[in-house]
Amino acid sequence: MKNKTYHIITIGCQMNKSDSERIANYLENTGYTFTDKESQADLVVLTTCGIRQSAEDRIYGLIPKIKKNNPKTKIILTGCLSERPDVKKRVTEQVDIWMNIKELPKLKSRLLGLDNDSVQRDCDYLKEKPKYDSKVSAFVPIGNGCDNFCSYCVVPFARGREVYREANEIIQEAKDLISSGYKEITLIAQNVNSYHEIDSNIDFPDLLKMVNDLAGDFWLRFSTSHPKDMSDKLIDTMAKCEKLCEHLHLPAQAGDNDILKAMNRKYTIEDYRILIKKVRAKMPNIAITTDIIVGYPGETEAQFQNTVKLFEDIKYDMAYVAQYSPRPNTAAAKLDDNVSRDDKRSREKELMSIIEKTSLENSQKYLNKIYPVLIEKKNKKGDWVGKAKSFKIVKIDNSEEFKDVEGEIVNVLIKKVQDLGLRGEIIEK
Ligand code: SAH
Ligand code: SF4
Ligand code: F3S
Repeated sequence: MKNKTYHIITIGCQMNKSDSERIANYLENTGYTFTDKESQADLVVLTTCGIRQSAEDRIYGLIPKIKKNNPKTKIILTGCLSERPDVKKRVTEQVDIWMNIKELPKLKSRLLGLDNDSVQRDCDYLKEKPKYDSKVSAFVPIGNGCDNFCSYCVVPFARGREVYREANEIIQEAKDLISSGYKEITLIAQNVNSYHEIDSNIDFPDLLKMVNDLAGDFWLRFSTSHPKDMSDKLIDTMAKCEKLCEHLHLPAQAGDNDILKAMNRKYTIEDYRILIKKVRAKMPNIAITTDIIVGYPGETEAQFQNTVKLFEDIKYDMAYVAQYSPRPNTAAAKLDDNVSRDDKRSREKELMSIIEKTSLENSQKYLNKIYPVLIEKKNKKGDWVGKAKSFKIVKIDNSEEFKDVEGEIVNVLIKKVQDLGLRGEIIEK
């Protein structure tokens, strides 16, 4: 299989980005080379997302376009829509191979036309080596799937039950990254802090400490955490991990107890507030971000105002606010999606305007101080843009003085607080 080319399009979260990195390496080992022109590729892989209708709709636009510009190409559809019978029905003509990501190790035989139908139920596919997108920052998946069945969410259906990798395998992947010079490692899973190794007592705090204690100079992050598994042990461990960045992403989803119950989130808003208090007591400078859904079926204005109250009290640094979108098979899909589009939109706007205020307030503490920043890229204006340990975006004002800092951690004097981020000057390389 020589001289064939592939192209990958990834929609969705960091798990999908990571899966695409594994698919890319697998295809390269199978004899394919990457092309950035999908119109010339022999194979186009679509790593799909079904979290909201808008994510799903993207493939209905993409697939006909790909086939029109490149009728001979083969399309592989993987990711979170690969097991949806209704999606299969809709684009069955154009898609050549439907691949549950767990079947990645068998893709070669399928490309060769040797059929192999059985789906693996574990996370063995994570043993495939990735071709990382970046030379500086890498996602290390520690597991796959979700057992929580939040009433609105499609992930447990799309990715199956929770499975976790062996700690040794994860540590080896992190070690290899560090020795290749990676500066930022993010442990990822749908619920990272539910991690437990199957035949041992190793839990997520243990794993985090093991990665933190690897020799080398790197930043460590993890995402996403579920509040129900935010144990005291984890909070204590976080405070002790000196390589761990000062940022916690802890999705609340709603600020109202009746809505949280209807969502099957397994905690009350009081539990959540106590967690944030404990985290801030141990790590006073930590930046906290969250995910929220507005317009869950039946959410009243008064219930939404409890989320507003949560935002005002917690003073988040950032929030990803999503308008509720009904998803097939989920428990909430049986309920009437009865909050109007306009109400969803205005609730989203209201929360984002609080974020703009609280993020700005929180950022004041960085002013006139020097912080390490990982430089990622140049923006359209030609200025370097990077990320602080707090996950805040930092724009560099004296970019022209530093030609060669991409992928480097530099010291930046923060001179201005702006929008949801910071501006400053590099003071040394
Ligand atoms: N495991 C993580 C979230 C993974 S999904 C957690 O439990 O927090 C990423 C985000 O998508 C969720 O946090 C939620 O805010 C959003 N989301 C999930 N299903 C949704 C839906 N049906 N409509 C709108 N947003 C949704
Ligand atoms: Fe979805 Fe809930 Fe699982 Fe998160 S914990 S992936 S929101 S079902
Ligand atoms: Fe989307 Fe699947 Fe991630 S539904 S958000 S790609 S886990």
